[in-house]
Formats: sequence, C-alpha cells, structure tokens
Amino acid sequence: MNKRKGNKRYERARRRRQRLLFMTVIGLLLCVGVGVAAVKLVMTTFAREKAVITIMADPVTIRQEQEIPKLTANILVSGDEEAVLDKKSGYTVGDLVKEIRKGEHYQIENKADNTTEGTFSLKVTLTKEMKKKLDNQFKNKVEIKTQDGTLVVKNKYGDWEGKKFKKADGNYAVSEFVAMGDKKYYFDEEGNMVTGEMKQGNKEYVFSDTGVLESEKFIGLDPTKPMVALTFDDGPGKDTDRLLEALKKYNARATFFMLGNNAKNYGSVIKKMKDMNCELGNHSTTHAQLTKLSAEAIKKEIQTTSEYIKNAAGVGPTVMRPPYGAVNATVKQNVGLPMILWSVDTLDWKTKSTPKTVESIMTAKDGDIILLHDIHTTSVDAAIEAIPKLIEKGFQLVTVSEMAEAKGQKLELGVKYFSF
Ligand code: NI
Repeated sequence: MNKRKGNKRYERARRRRQRLLFMTVIGLLLCVGVGVAAVKLVMTTFAREKAVITIMADPVTIRQEQEIPKLTANILVSGDEEAVLDKKSGYTVGDLVKEIRKGEHYQIENKADNTTEGTFSLKVTLTKEMKKKLDNQFKNKVEIKTQDGTLVVKNKYGDWEGKKFKKADGNYAVSEFVAMGDKKYYFDEEGNMVTGEMKQGNKEYVFSDTGVLESEKFIGLDPTKPMVALTFDDGPGKDTDRLLEALKKYNARATFFMLGNNAKNYGSVIKKMKDMNCELGNHSTTHAQLTKLSAEAIKKEIQTTSEYIKNAAGVGPTVMRPPYGAVNATVKQNVGLPMILWSVDTLDWKTKSTPKTVESIMTAKDGDIILLHDIHTTSVDAAIEAIPKLIEKGFQLVTVSEMAEAKGQKLELGVKYFSF
C-alpha cells in the first residue's frame, strides 16, 4: 500500500516535470520565433525604405597644360536595391545603380580648361530622360542626389608658399630665376622672392613689389656707345691669368672658348673668369674638326668640356666656337649652344708677332668679335697692350652675350654669329 502510494506520488511529480520541460521548450521556441519574426519585420521595414543613389563628382587636381583626365564620380547607395522599377522586365534599383556606375544617365560638366590657373566647379547633371523617369515611374522608389566636385588647375611652374616657390619638380627655387609665362622672378639664397633692386654678376635688375622682373641691364655698359668683344681660343694656358689681371685693371671683360683638355688643368683660372663676369665658352675637348664626327661624337666633344667648366665655375658655358670654324648640319643640330665665329681674325697664331696682332686688334669696329688665342704669350702680350688703347678709342670691352643683348640679338642654339 505504502509502496503503491509512493509510486503514485512519484508518477505525478515525474509528469509535472515533463510538462514543465515541455512548456519551457515551447516557450523558448515561441520566443525564438517571435524574435526572428520581429527581426524580419524590422529588416523588411528598413529594406523597403526608398533607395537613394548619390552621384558625387570625384575631385581632380592637375597642373596647367596637363591633360584633364576622364571625369569620374563616386556612387553611394542606401535603401532597397531590390525594389523593382519596371515590373515587365524586372528592372531593379540595383540594375540602375550598375548602369550609373558605368557612367550612364548623368554627365559631369566642366567649364575649366588646362591653361588657366584656379579652382573650377565640376557640375553633376542627370540626363533629361532620367529626370523624367524619376518624376514619373521611378517616383517613390528611388531618388538620385548629385554632389558637385572641383577641378583645381595648379600653376604649371609650381606652387607659391608665401614668398617661396616650390617648383613643379618638388624643389624650392633658390638663388635662381624662375620664368612663369612672360613673368620672371628671382629667389634669393634663402628661397625668398626678391623685390626692388638687385645686383648680380655684371647685371642690375629691378623687380616690382610683386616680384616681377621689370628691367635688367649690364652694369657699366651703355648700349648706345661702341663696343667690341675680345675672344680667346684654345686655352686656358699659362698666360691666361696674366690676361685676366689686365682685364680686371680696366674693368673689361672677354670671352674664353676653352678646350676641355686644357680646362681640366685650370680650374681656378676658370673660376676667376666667372667671378670677373667674363663669358665661358666651349671649344670642344680635343680641338676636333666637328664636321668629320658623328652626332654622338660631337655631343661627347661638347659635353665633356662643358662638364669641366661647370665643375670649375659652378656654371656651364653659354656659347661655343667650333674648331677651325667648321660647321655643317650635324654640328648645328648637336652642339646645343650658340656658335660664335668672328669678324676680326688677327692671325695671331700665325704671325706670333705682338705688334702685328695689336695692329690687327685696333682695326676693330663697333660690334666686332675679335679672334685671339691665349695659349700664345705673344697674343696675350698683344691683348694687354690693346686693352687700354681700345678703351681710349671709346670702345667698351664686353662679352659676346652682352654685346648680342646690347645690340638686340637673341642668341639661338646651333646658329652661327660673326658680329653684332
Ligand atoms: Ni681653336
């Protein structure tokens, strides 16, 4: 009896436990179900939100004269991409987005060109057809927003940073002129733009308050008065320094057409020429007859000497004289410097006579280029004697480039000049 009673009680408790477990499971399942349904509801509610497509023009930065790249846009989408826009074809917002990403349905207007500096608007506009569709069949399903961009056209020469100028190559302009179109500026050793007056080398410059070069002239040179250019070939030599001292004494200048094979041994003399504002010229490396050489060999004859001169003076030659005055088309195309010949040939190398050379020098007229050789002592002696005589006759003793400029001639590469 007790045992049976005990069994019954046990049975009831077991059933209660089972019911409880069952209810718990059902409860949990219900909860999960409701949760999933709720999430689904929320998701569908949000997904059904009207799609918004934003077309944003990508910003573009170029330098003047660089080609404007193909204008592109960034496309952003929110809302229901699955919304069907055309029931018949099943065309969805997603399909529309794909087309827009391919560049369809809109254009980017740009009124800038690549010549004018400045910031210009890149205007995004939808095609007429798209605007019409958005107002009608696509209404309430999709919206397209546009966002304009900018096209920045930067100065092709570089960027101003206050009074400093960072050139297009990334380096700051320091101790140099920078031409920007028809304007020319100078930046000092600290990289600051120069205004007002400046003396440099044998020139005097005047800049405006905004740094634009307004005038430049050679110091101690009157373009209305007669002038001649003394030129010395084949050196430097042992007498060149003595010649420089004589020029210095009379505040005179000359042009030296140097041979690379000599230039490499007279670095300090070349530096002195430069410091005296004499003109540095190239006369080839080996005194080769350039007309007998290939284009490559001509270039090498010139470049080697230019390097020796630049190493010594810090600046390269500005003019050249072909040995023997020999020039042909290949020489013209490959020397890369103006070719300076002469109008007074003293034949100093032939006579080796100081009086005859002086006599020849003194036949010079305004604008003449006088040919001499500073490797001969007799020639240097003649020049030293002639310098005060020329000055006494009213001549200004100038370099070839100074004379060309004073006479209004622009020296061009590969062109021959005899006098000015
Ligand atoms: Ni020569």
